[in-house]
Amino acid sequence: MKILTVFYSRTGITAEVARAVHVALGGDLEEIKDTRKRDGMINYLYSGMEAALKKPAKIEPVRHDPGAYDLVIIGTPVWSHNISTPVRAYLEQNKANFKACAFFATCASSGAAKVLGEMETLSGTKGRELLEINKKEYRSGAFREKAGQFAKRLLA
Ligand SMILES: Cc1cc2nc3c(=O)[nH]c(=O)nc-3n(C[C@H](O)[C@H](O)[C@H](O)COP(=O)(O)O)c2cc1C
Repeated sequence: MKILTVFYSRTGITAEVARAVHVALGGDLEEIKDTRKRDGMINYLYSGMEAALKKPAKIEPVRHDPGAYDLVIIGTPVWSHNISTPVRAYLEQNKANFKACAFFATCASSGAAKVLGEMETLSGTKGRELLEINKKEYRSGAFREKAGQFAKRLLA
């Protein structure tokens, strides 16, 4: 099975979960890069507003065609209880190309379940598996076990 893991990460948390999933499953790894600066308070506030308005960010062209994979796993941070805008852009641009997807979302504390449902809707696919990681699970390292179980279920 050809597997692609795709993620966007502003501060590295979603990236680390994506790497754990990628190590467990193999395949290819794609980082979504947007063209806007996201650091600092003004950009934080802008990002939250952009996400709440459900606006897609401008993203750089991706290296891997998701249509060439049997399974595409997509991860986003939660922004204002919404999909991060770079991942929204990726889903909107590629929704015609997904064969099967699984989704994960990282958050400080809440909003991941809603975001995972919206990722399913936007991608036009039902996620084969869904994974939520909050800040506590990230800090304690418990996310590694959860990511490993998520990967195992996808291979079963
Ligand atoms: C603009 C913005 C809005 C956020 N909104 C939420 C939120 O609604 N709920 C939540 O639990 N965390 C929220 N967070 C926290 C991030 O979802 C969380 O820290 C995430 O794991 C960061 O992932 P990253 O390091 O890959 O960027 C927000 C972060 C940003 C930057």
